[in-house]
Amino acid sequence: MFFPSGTHKDHGLAFNPLKAIISPRPIGWISSIGADGVHNLAPYSFFNAISESPPMVAFSGSPGAQGDKDSIKNIEETGDFVVNIVSSHLMDAMNITSASLPRDVSEFDQAKLTATPSRFVSSPHVGESPCYLECRLWQILDLPQAANGEHGRLVIGEVLGIGIDDAIITPEGQLDVTKYQPAARLGYKDYAIIDKVFELDRPNP
Ligand SMILES: Cc1cc2nc3c(=O)[nH]c(=O)nc-3n(C[C@H](O)[C@H](O)[C@H](O)COP(=O)(O)O)c2cc1C
Repeated sequence: MFFPSGTHKDHGLAFNPLKAIISPRPIGWISSIGADGVHNLAPYSFFNAISESPPMVAFSGSPGAQGDKDSIKNIEETGDFVVNIVSSHLMDAMNITSASLPRDVSEFDQAKLTATPSRFVSSPHVGESPCYLECRLWQILDLPQAANGEHGRLVIGEVLGIGIDDAIITPEGQLDVTKYQPAARLGYKDYAIIDKVFELDRPNP
């Protein structure tokens, strides 16, 4: 099968397969704070690390009914955000924070999570998260207009500080992902949990 993107329904596919094809995707659980001091927390799977040096991450938000997502409005106002990692035991809480709530309601409260002060940025981080990245906004790029007239926005940030739960660090000084089992997003309503890993040596290390 091959088709021009956007015409999947003419080819027997019930949904756009893009997110199923590009899976698994890490979930950036983005915490932020508005100029009014209200905390915000929401998952974004159009998310990844984009550079190691300097350490940079990016995520994109498609507009909701009220225009830009609250996370993006907050980040524009304050210039920072935190990426929290979703471990298997935080899946339900993560899902609760994906609800569209009024801007003056904090998803931290809805999901009964602890908004913990960060060191280098004004945005709080998720106290229950096994690791988190404190980020300073570098740039927000407007993505091209889609067929429905909307355009998403790509938020790019520089990682200023890294928080890790000491319990997930091995005696050799590595993170043991099997201890915190990060969640990944697949297509449709599907998720995966990373609970097994294997090593592979590169041919020319
Ligand atoms: C696992 C998961 C991943 C998501 N990824 C994205 C994404 O990459 N971009 C996006 O615009 N919305 C995404 N959403 C939907 C947002 O989380 C949702 O619209 C949320 O209400 C946005 O919150 P905010 O307005 O407080 O920022 C995702 C939802 C879930 C459950």
